[in-house]
Amino acid sequence: MPVISYAPDAGVWLLSTPRTSYALRTDTTGAPCHLAWGPRLTLEEAQELAAPQAPPASSFEGRSPVGEELPVDGGARYGTPSLQVRFADGTRAFEWQPAGHRVHEPEPGSQELALEFSDRHYPLTVTLHYRVYADSDVIERWTRLRNTGNDPLVLLRADSAAWTLPSREDYRLSHVTGQWSAESQLRREQLPFGETVLTSRRGITSHHANPWVMLDAGDATEEHGQVWSAALAWSGGWRVTVQRTPDGRACFTGGAGHDGASLTLGPGEQFLTPVHAGLHSEGGFGAASRAWHAYTLAHVLPHPDETQPVLYNSWEATGFDVDAAGQKALAARAAKLGVELYVMDDGWFGGRRSERAGLGDWTASRDRFPEGLSPLVAEVHRLGMRFGLWVEPEMVNPDSDLYREHPDWVLHFPHRTRTELRSQLVLNFARRDVAEWAYGWLTRLVGEHGIDFLKWDMNRAFSEAGWPERHGDADQVGTAYVRNLYEVIDRLRADHPALRIETCSGGGGRVDLGILSRTDQAWTSDNTDASDRVAIQHGYSQIYPARTMAAWVTDVPNQLTGRSVPLRFRFHVAMAGVLGIGGDLTRWSDAELAEGAELVAEYKRVRPLVQHGVMHRPRGPVDDGPAAVQYTSPDRSEALLLVWQRGPRHGSPRTPLRLAGLDPRARYRDTRTGTVHSANVLTGYGILPELPPGDWASTAVHLIRVP
Ligand code: DGJ
Repeated sequence: MPVISYAPDAGVWLLSTPRTSYALRTDTTGAPCHLAWGPRLTLEEAQELAAPQAPPASSFEGRSPVGEELPVDGGARYGTPSLQVRFADGTRAFEWQPAGHRVHEPEPGSQELALEFSDRHYPLTVTLHYRVYADSDVIERWTRLRNTGNDPLVLLRADSAAWTLPSREDYRLSHVTGQWSAESQLRREQLPFGETVLTSRRGITSHHANPWVMLDAGDATEEHGQVWSAALAWSGGWRVTVQRTPDGRACFTGGAGHDGASLTLGPGEQFLTPVHAGLHSEGGFGAASRAWHAYTLAHVLPHPDETQPVLYNSWEATGFDVDAAGQKALAARAAKLGVELYVMDDGWFGGRRSERAGLGDWTASRDRFPEGLSPLVAEVHRLGMRFGLWVEPEMVNPDSDLYREHPDWVLHFPHRTRTELRSQLVLNFARRDVAEWAYGWLTRLVGEHGIDFLKWDMNRAFSEAGWPERHGDADQVGTAYVRNLYEVIDRLRADHPALRIETCSGGGGRVDLGILSRTDQAWTSDNTDASDRVAIQHGYSQIYPARTMAAWVTDVPNQLTGRSVPLRFRFHVAMAGVLGIGGDLTRWSDAELAEGAELVAEYKRVRPLVQHGVMHRPRGPVDDGPAAVQYTSPDRSEALLLVWQRGPRHGSPRTPLRLAGLDPRARYRDTRTGTVHSANVLTGYGILPELPPGDWASTAVHLIRVP
């Protein structure tokens, strides 16, 4: 059971998770200060860390920028503020005044601490929330700000939480960068002194960065060492600022919104930040990833116990050229391959013949589906598959009936260009009428056709993100947009409990713990080149579990990269996540269809390990040698090792791959070769799985414990 304990004399709070402790106190100025985040401590031990603060060494220093639970803009503080307020009379400095605390149990197995504060003079209350779980070392934090006065105030910055690391001689930062079709590229570099800003100004989580960080002392490896990490549950613009100070400390603060966006808080209004979840772990980056995966399954995803079906998606096969006959032909072949969910992608509605027209007109095109969608849905169901449909509810093409009727519904500023990207504009989901309209047609569409699955896409970044009718609130758009988006999805799910949703934003542009708490899986990337995909999946797996990572097998030469790799390699890469097929099955040869069906069947045998098991990364995609990922069942009775060798160089060393997480006393049989291996040999010395010669060789080793 998680424990939140308090030493009233010292004013020290201790939050205990199964393997870690987090301690804080309120200092003599009333400010909430950090004490510890790391290995377990007792309450007495935590108090030892509560030494009185040394006075600043000079009149130029002020308070240390590191070490507060939510550094404010106020007093002699010169670091990045997590909270920056402008009151009605222009005053900006916030002064902490403790106002009580509450501890409660929101549900069995978790506890929550709420620390309440107000400003010493102005009518603003700040509540810091902490939630701990019995089965996870992840600590959730968020902040509630309430205007208790009669005048509006402006939040210039309102982060969810600031996180402080213990002093170390060096620090290293891990995070991902990227772009469309190259998401989740893992970067691991020494943390520079000063402020490092990771952000999205695009209105979505973005392909370019993802709101998580991992810090270590420069000494962690995949399987060893302390790692401090955090992830933000937010699907709009965001900012995480990591600071390393000259006195050898490090911290980071994160929240919704990017620089320069402020929020007006009217009298009586409150602002609730998204959750910023943090984790201290031992056991290297691998253990950190495993803890995030377990937390996502236990406390984020809506249906974690379900096994995700093998899906087929028509996009790469047809582009916008969809019609009833073509879809039925693909569906028939998909069913034979063993597909369980058939998804019709873009092009089925209104005047949508290319990316230039039709978005917003969400009725099936009469010329392509003369009898509507129902006959296709019925046929897919008759073939024994579920039916999924692509939608992009937040967008409109200027060439659409919707835009002709409601040109004011898009994000825009008066007298400014409405910049089009992919020939589309962003509907202002912050508007109630727009959100209601989207909810209305979506719930009708799903209900009337018996749709089982939606691929919810979002294909451009924001620009000119204004709302002219509410000019005072222009900066509020980003936050209100995301909240309404969440609400529409939540209502839709409530109306249709069997509906499952895939989050997509031109691939992985909107993957985060916020959207994952209301969707079932994510379209990882529009890049389906299996070779490129190895690195994308590696970055994705740092935080997000395989159970959410949709991966398709598509045709060669790959539409994006022109690269051709064997069907087996494409399957083996996609089998590391939620397997899907995205090729033009009408062009697959009988031999390819037979091999595909065999590999789909193989995936179905091992997918409980992939989707519900524990992941290890015996070797990352660090060079042109093999990369490998291992999934082990929670009871350690089975393991799957996927190995991908991209372009080997003659003479480059091949090091055995050491497995992990097996039952140490057991022996495991390789289901393909029949060879029996001792767990101690597999983990202590490793194996060299046999790979065919040449580029793009791959294998899947399925091991079952010998009774
Ligand atoms: C972007 C998605 O990522 C693709 O898979 C596809 O659905 C297209 N949009 C359709 O426009």
